[in-house]
Amino acid sequence: MTNRARKPYIAGNWKMNLDRARSLDLIKTVKGRLGDGGDREVAFFVPAIYLADVSAVAQGSPLGIGGQNLWFEANGAFTGEVAPRMLREVGADRVLIGHSERRHVFHEPDDWMGRKVRAALDCDLLPIYCIGETLDERKGNRTERVLKRQLESGFEKVKVEDCHRLTIAYEPVWAIGTGETATTEQVGATHKMIRKWLAVRVGEPAANLVRVLYGGSVKPDNAKDLMAVEHVDGLLVGGASLQAETFLPIVEYDRAPA
Ligand code: PGA
Repeated sequence: MTNRARKPYIAGNWKMNLDRARSLDLIKTVKGRLGDGGDREVAFFVPAIYLADVSAVAQGSPLGIGGQNLWFEANGAFTGEVAPRMLREVGADRVLIGHSERRHVFHEPDDWMGRKVRAALDCDLLPIYCIGETLDERKGNRTERVLKRQLESGFEKVKVEDCHRLTIAYEPVWAIGTGETATTEQVGATHKMIRKWLAVRVGEPAANLVRVLYGGSVKPDNAKDLMAVEHVDGLLVGGASLQAETFLPIVEYDRAPA
């Protein structure tokens, strides 16, 4: 059975896409459609340079606006990086941490993750902590080991009382931007494993507060099936979040198509 003890969370990750005008248009359209938001949480993770403008347009709506990355120090000689406080200052209320492109393209190591999650929480940013195995790791039966290692590092400094502010996104690297989605069986088994790990790590009551999203080639035609998988509390959407025509049907995964 689908567990809706947790509010569904549909998040769009724009990555390094769109321009300023198209970003603002998309926010206006989604904001108009969302109304008061009600029974689901919707957010966009936006290039840092557009955050101020995008969050100004999103104001007055329940739409969450987040950064795609942060550095864990408050300030200093870190050329090219963005501090948690800076994200807050330009209107972000959340942030992605450990996205697979950060890990694999920019070689962010596991041992940064705990400090990044802690820095986000300490600055009142809601983190989505991303984890996922590569195709080689899955083929080599190392999925569980890899995900547990990533979970251990991300949760290194997490306390039980932080859990209601934490979200995990399971995104198999081989499913991101490839058009290949994990099967509902693979998603179900992996999410179950994550939830079990959480219960051991923080105890069952706190574990039950953490939402676990699926990401990787989520589209309007697979969103409903993915959301029906037990322990899937939401979706992290890349390519399909760049246009209202593909993002809104995902947000409204449980409504009949018009
Ligand atoms: P995708 O990206 O939906 O384009 O596969 C997902 C993500 O990277 O968050």
